[in-house]
Amino acid sequence: MKKTRLAVLVSGRGSNLQAIIDTIESGDLSAELAVVISDQAGAYALERAEKHGIAAMHVSAKGYKGRRDEYDALLAEKLRGENVELVCLAGFMRIITPTLIRAFPNRILNIHPSLLPAFPGLHVQKAALEHGVKFSGCTVHFVDEGMDTGPIIIQAVVPILDRDTEDTLSTRILKQEHVIYSRAIQLFAEGRLVVQGRRVVVSDGKTSTTEFLMNP
Ligand code: GRF
Repeated sequence: MKKTRLAVLVSGRGSNLQAIIDTIESGDLSAELAVVISDQAGAYALERAEKHGIAAMHVSAKGYKGRRDEYDALLAEKLRGENVELVCLAGFMRIITPTLIRAFPNRILNIHPSLLPAFPGLHVQKAALEHGVKFSGCTVHFVDEGMDTGPIIIQAVVPILDRDTEDTLSTRILKQEHVIYSRAIQLFAEGRLVVQGRRVVVSDGKTSTTEFLMNP
């Protein structure tokens, strides 16, 4: 099977990037990492890429204040230059503009640490705890022009325990992020994701969940 050429956009530690690299290296993901791009010079994610011999680029956003679409046009140019077919945002701490989205229609994915549409935005594990929900989780979705609003591809659910702190909950969710991002990419690579309005239908998809979950 032909390998999908991926770019991963990051800003920080890059644990999701690492999970994607590891899944590719284990042979469970029909993708190759064309390039990792960070808007932050010191991002640990860049080091992770370099350690695995993957092209790593810092594309500084300095000088683009108030000109976000010019920055995104630059990103689009770099991504096209690497013949990227799928762009994965993984802790990329910038809101991307229609300039980038329209350059890769239905070809940009994002991972978010809540069960969207609950808790979009930032500090969402804290928000979930404060709200008192009994489950949270993570979501991989296509990126559209809203904030964390695009069609949902896959979600994983984790329980929230009475003793949870923001840290313990974040760690529990992150562990599932590392599973579902690669799974979403693999479904994309297999050409099995069909976007029908807001819904993403997985052709030949089988749900892997039980009938219901209850907590406590
Ligand atoms: C993850 O929690 C992801 O869901 C969110 O940013 C965090 C990035 O973590 N968008 P990492 O850089 O992949 O470790």
